[in-house]
Amino acid sequence: MDKNFDLMALTAFGIESVTKMELQKLGYETKVEDGRVNFRGNFEDIVRSNLWLRTANRVMIKVGSFDARDFNTLFDKTFDIDWDYFLTNDAKFPIEVSSVKSTLSSEPACQSIIKKAIVEKLKKRYHVEMFPEDGALYRIKVYILKDHVTIGIDTTGDSLNRRGYRTEISEAPLKETMAAAIVMLSKWNGDLPLWDGFCGSGTIPIEAMMMAKRIAPGILRKFAYEKWRNFPNDIIADERKEAKKAISESNVKIIGSDVDNRIINSAVRNAGRMGLERYIDFRVSSVEKFTPEGSRGFFISNLPYGKRMEIDANIYEVLKDKFDHLNGWKFFFLTADKDFERSFLRADGNRKMFNGRIEVRLYKYERRG
Ligand SMILES: C[S@@+](CC[C@H](N)C(=O)[O-])C[C@H]1O[C@@H](n2cnc3c(N)ncnc32)[C@H](O)[C@@H]1O
Repeated sequence: MDKNFDLMALTAFGIESVTKMELQKLGYETKVEDGRVNFRGNFEDIVRSNLWLRTANRVMIKVGSFDARDFNTLFDKTFDIDWDYFLTNDAKFPIEVSSVKSTLSSEPACQSIIKKAIVEKLKKRYHVEMFPEDGALYRIKVYILKDHVTIGIDTTGDSLNRRGYRTEISEAPLKETMAAAIVMLSKWNGDLPLWDGFCGSGTIPIEAMMMAKRIAPGILRKFAYEKWRNFPNDIIADERKEAKKAISESNVKIIGSDVDNRIINSAVRNAGRMGLERYIDFRVSSVEKFTPEGSRGFFISNLPYGKRMEIDANIYEVLKDKFDHLNGWKFFFLTADKDFERSFLRADGNRKMFNGRIEVRLYKYERRG
């Protein structure tokens, strides 16, 4: 229990500092690297961080970190790790290697050396010759960057953006983790109305309402560690119980509108899977018809772009017309369109991030609120 692990919360590039803030709020000391926030914790912390992190993709246990420029070193240092502390004798342990700017550049070769080293170590500890690998999954990820090797065991399973509520998606869905990150970056705190005028399958409104009601993002789903025989089960049950108790009431007004009525029906059903259908006001409406409800609020949207944008060529004109003189409201637009400010209005600031492989920016118009 008191064994403290080095843990890594993996994030999309550009939102590391948001995940860092989340971890700090959960009470951890953090160290940020590209695409990763390091922290320390025990089994309880593995459960808590997986259940509660809204913006990270996964939580890994860092089991090794060393320099290696040749296969012998890679083998020996991997062998030195206490693999039997983590892996049971029936563990399934696929290994994924990524090597960047390193002497050991062949990923398949590194993968087979690492596999061999782990098997040799387990043979020695479990006194058997064969491992059936028919038990729980312990996915091992190895990152080699500039000859430095980091080995992690994935505790999460399916990426954390898979909360379990969004089984219906729009044409260009925003990852749940990214939606949560932009709501956090807007500094909306659950008091003022929040409106997404291009809500698609409802990701931004649903994530915002989960924050307002303190619903743990992982409450509906399972995690890889739940199948691990050597993982304390009582902790898992206790943390889930705590998460259920933490859910609170909220009267905040959240509106999601979209021009496409089919996608609004999906958004309502997605919200329903989180028990939020009666908390979010979903409407079929084009942004041309937007009129603010209330003197202050947050308008946060992931704009259509690419092919769709050509169809809606005048959309920026409509937005300009709606927002240029709108006082009291702050607005935030996420788009991949590099000319966005030129076509719309000069922003107070913007932030680069990656939605999958697509470079996007969150344009902030916050001095009006
Ligand atoms: C990039 S998608 C939003 C995806 C959403 N964030 C999600 O996670 O599903 C853009 C959405 O804008 C909607 N849209 C396009 N033109 C619109 C308009 N003039 N008014 C309102 N919605 C519009 C599309 O139907 C589409 O669902």
